[in-house]
Amino acid sequence: MSNLRDKHVVLGVTGGIACYKSADLASKAAQEGARVDVILTSAALKFISPLTFTAVTGRRAWTDMYTPDEAGRFPHVTHSRQADLIVIAPATANTIAKLAHGLADNLLTATVLDSRAPLLLAPAMETHMWEHPATQENVRALKERGVHFVGPEAGHLASGAEGVGRLAEVPTILGAMRYVLGLNGPLRGRKVVITAGGTREPIDPVRFITNPSTGKMGVALAEAARDLGATTVLVHAPLQVPVPYGVRGVSILTAQDMFDAVMAEVEDADVFIAAAAVADFRPARRAEHKVKKEGREGLVLELERTPDILGTVGERRQETGRPLVLVGFAAETENPVEAARAKLARKNLDIIIANDVTAADAGFAADTNRVVYIDREGRVEPWPLMSKAEVAERIIARVVEFGLLTKP
Ligand code: CTP
Repeated sequence: MSNLRDKHVVLGVTGGIACYKSADLASKAAQEGARVDVILTSAALKFISPLTFTAVTGRRAWTDMYTPDEAGRFPHVTHSRQADLIVIAPATANTIAKLAHGLADNLLTATVLDSRAPLLLAPAMETHMWEHPATQENVRALKERGVHFVGPEAGHLASGAEGVGRLAEVPTILGAMRYVLGLNGPLRGRKVVITAGGTREPIDPVRFITNPSTGKMGVALAEAARDLGATTVLVHAPLQVPVPYGVRGVSILTAQDMFDAVMAEVEDADVFIAAAAVADFRPARRAEHKVKKEGREGLVLELERTPDILGTVGERRQETGRPLVLVGFAAETENPVEAARAKLARKNLDIIIANDVTAADAGFAADTNRVVYIDREGRVEPWPLMSKAEVAERIIARVVEFGLLTKP
């Protein structure tokens, strides 16, 4: 589930060893619902076969500029006009140089020159080639023209060397594709702040109190907001999944850190979504040194309340009117709907998502969630079991419908 669904993506593959990863990229983009047309350069054909791409996309892969299709049209024109996005992965130094200078000497470069679709390049090459002033100059010129880049990353290179030049990882490229596709979405110009993960409350320098939250729901919400063009900030405790491409991550540990970071970010935010599992209590004192067991039969920890982040944002909104839309979660183990409704009123929210965290297919570590959507206008909708990505997409769609489009 992503904004790649029903989009026409032209995937250009140029001649570098990293092009074996392009097959995975093509496959994943097709699985997310995109129509993926692959164009290979003659150098790419030395490394990989068009058949590989046909097998994963279910569509013909293209190589030759001079062979018209069944309807007599030349493929560079067809692809360039139909594309919602052109992504070149890997993009070699040679192809980057050609694009910077407007060359159109093969099907891929001709397609790019003829197209007005957004262009995303994922470079991959040896470090010296990437760092060469000629390449850097070409990259700068392309960026100035609005071309997007993802990577290259640092790490192991095919030559055996370590350095900058690795193709970005496939999930990162997919994230970048979704980011670029979303730039003109309905949340363009809107700032969405989301919290995620389980906070850590230290007992001593080596121990802390936490909960089983993985941060997956908050990360899925950040992806969904980014996909619609929002400026997205994720204030997060340690996560088991990476901060998505195009989302600004603010990393924190404790509830107090999260409180401080959120208060700094929400001032100019349009939407705040509290998806974090924030500790409600923390040790009243943090031991300076590791607590030793010697001479102790047991240990009593005194706990104190942490600040209520969402509650405070809700209170402040009554004075400032911002953020425009406030969304909370209610993780419950009994009577989730009733408890969630009470929280919605108490914290001055627009929307609350209730989930019964005792269900195996919902809540903390699961990739799926079964939730009840409740809003301040009295709607109570039990949603069917869905992936967290689908739940996130639906919540963001409701945020768009619920508040932003009717308020300044
Ligand atoms: N939340 C928060 N700051 C806290 C505690 C919770 O921002 N210190 C947010 C959560 O991210 C969630 C919502 O508040 O969106 C509900 O949290 P929950 O702990 O379930 O509710 P509480 O109001 O704290 O009530 P209780 O713990 O008694 O159920």
